[in-house]
Amino acid sequence: MTFKNMAKKLLGDPINRVDGALKATGRARYSADIKRPGMLHGVLVMSTIANGKITAIDTADALKVPGVVNVMSHQNAPKLAGMDKNKPSEIATDRVLHVFQDDLVHYNNQPIAMVLAETLEQATEGASLVRVTYQTQPVKLPLPAGKADMSTPKQMPRVDDQVDTKRGDLAAGLAAAINRMEETYTTPTMNHNALEPHALLAYWEGDKLTMYNATQGISGCQKRVAEIFGMPKENVRVITQFLGGGFGSKGTTFSHVMLAPMAAKLTGKPVRLVLKREQMFGMVGNRSATVQRLNLATGKDGKLLATAHHSITQTSDFDEFAEPAGTITRMLYACPNLDTTHKFIRANIGTPAPMRAPGEAPGVFALESAIDEMAAQLRMDPLAFRLANYAETDPNKDKPFSSKSLRECYRQGAERFGWSKRPAQPRSLKNGNYLRGMGMATTVYPMNRGESTALVRLKPDGTVQVETATQDLGTGTFTIMTQIAAEVFGLSPDQVTLSAGDSIYPTSSVSGGSRNTASTGSAVTQAAQEVLKKARQMALKDPKSPLFNVAEAEIVVQKGGQLQQKSNPKVGEALTSLLKRNGNKPLEATVQSKQGDEKGKYSMNAFGAVFAEVEVDELLGEVRVTRLLGSFAAGRIVNLKTARSQVLGGMVWAVSMALHEKTVFDPRNNRVMNANLAEYHVPVNADIQEIDGFFIEEADDIVNPAGVKGIGEIGVVGTVSAIANAIYHATGRRFRDLPITVDKVL
Ligand code: MOS
Repeated sequence: MTFKNMAKKLLGDPINRVDGALKATGRARYSADIKRPGMLHGVLVMSTIANGKITAIDTADALKVPGVVNVMSHQNAPKLAGMDKNKPSEIATDRVLHVFQDDLVHYNNQPIAMVLAETLEQATEGASLVRVTYQTQPVKLPLPAGKADMSTPKQMPRVDDQVDTKRGDLAAGLAAAINRMEETYTTPTMNHNALEPHALLAYWEGDKLTMYNATQGISGCQKRVAEIFGMPKENVRVITQFLGGGFGSKGTTFSHVMLAPMAAKLTGKPVRLVLKREQMFGMVGNRSATVQRLNLATGKDGKLLATAHHSITQTSDFDEFAEPAGTITRMLYACPNLDTTHKFIRANIGTPAPMRAPGEAPGVFALESAIDEMAAQLRMDPLAFRLANYAETDPNKDKPFSSKSLRECYRQGAERFGWSKRPAQPRSLKNGNYLRGMGMATTVYPMNRGESTALVRLKPDGTVQVETATQDLGTGTFTIMTQIAAEVFGLSPDQVTLSAGDSIYPTSSVSGGSRNTASTGSAVTQAAQEVLKKARQMALKDPKSPLFNVAEAEIVVQKGGQLQQKSNPKVGEALTSLLKRNGNKPLEATVQSKQGDEKGKYSMNAFGAVFAEVEVDELLGEVRVTRLLGSFAAGRIVNLKTARSQVLGGMVWAVSMALHEKTVFDPRNNRVMNANLAEYHVPVNADIQEIDGFFIEEADDIVNPAGVKGIGEIGVVGTVSAIANAIYHATGRRFRDLPITVDKVL
């Protein structure tokens, strides 16, 4: 039996972050800040070839550097007991690792040795003196040049995604259509580049390992490390107090997370390992390049009759990760005849990994650009065309949506943005020398939910303790967990203490796939509700309570932690007096929370609409995004301040994907040529002008107990094409190859 307590607030209080003061005053300790007595610094030596094998490693000069104590490589690295688990996995966060167990090189910038020294400078110097000789093999190139071995992925990163789908009869749909378009859209390889590089401190106490590690998934990291070292999970402790971003790259436990504890074992000392910026271009994931072909066909009334989305992505030579570019196309619009396929090529690169809406971001760029092209062909307003093809139920799964407030997102977004002022004709707006344009797109992200466990303890003094392993990616997770627990008891968030960021607390979900609030937030909700239920039962059985013998369903909680009889609000008492009278002991509950069969019955997604205004200087080829506005419907929003910051962050990354980011490979050896933040471009403050995002009130009791959908990635998804469509409206020209840089616009 479940009880509805106070009405859940759909748009939650914009309270400040619980860890805000620590961060703003520099007292927050990130993984690379942690010290241990006797600690050594590790610096990695990386391969300089993309395919082949190591024939010799000469460490003599490195070992002569004062302070250098060891050089770990395949010649002396500890053997790992769980290497049989180091194989292609269906789980997106478990990738094949390179942990010095053999002499093979599969990609350029692969870790092959690690110099250990008393200071970072000594280790850096030592690493520069390690000389490696190789036997090289021909190099398999990534897209767009690479074409070899095109094959179909065995599975997609999310278990409910089929690799390829068909519905209706595509050929018949195309034949019946009056308007058709077919175009190819391409996106480059990208690298995550969080401000905080991957970093950890690892040390052993007997057979127990402790790691302060920058990870998006404490519990997943603990499991994977235990698996690869062949030791019980309980012997691995993972702590992440603060995290300086990840963008998906820290959701996977990559090789360095094993290498630091291996070196700690080899030397008998604590080891700190911090990746250099250039070492983050290869071994810690990337977003695959894509080549996507879109076909759309419509009838007289502007309704879609056929859609095909064929995508090619790349994976590494030794592992499988497929960027699921076509999955959103299956469900976003009503269309009776539809094909999607995914293929990949294998290249000598580090394995791709989830990055800022993997699949959705490049896939929706292609789809929503094609939709805009079709609208132009039909001489229909792009928003009207989307409304004409609105999906009332999920056409892919043939299921109702748990909730879908996309119409409201379109309506409120268009109104606030001033969409009605957009002239139909491209090249008709100007600001001095600049051509001005307005574009829009739909954005969407599936509701994902993983397993999480939380403990909630209500103390007789009326405060609440919450324990769960979860990490805070920097998005506000720690803050909103206190809000979620407080709301169940009618308390204020400052009466709740959260213990988290450590695997000694109950197992929780990865902060990835925009799922952590749905997962850990649901565990906290359910554990708090369980405690409240115990309090109700205590009250109705207690002859001294004013609520003695009142039916359980009649007891509600009100602001200030007051239990109350629903039909007679004068009858009730404070939770504190109830607990004090009943032994003065805390009430607690631990709940393991996971998805039921909701996904079998419903399609659950967050939706939104993004509007962009750009100015283009055709003489200089310069594109400026002058205005961005996103409206989002994502279930209940726990904290309006952190949520808004999060979607704005996503929209900034869309500016990045549309205009800036691109990893450039040297075609001779697949070495990344712009492995630094000077040449790998991301937006800076001057690139972001007017930007705003807001939320539509959306109640959804089906999605999960917390009533939330994800907001981590929805900001980026549709925004990329909204910008590209605005550039079309400004210039009358289509740019189908990202990023849209000066050289292409000129
Ligand atoms: Mo997100 S790219 O799944 O961390």
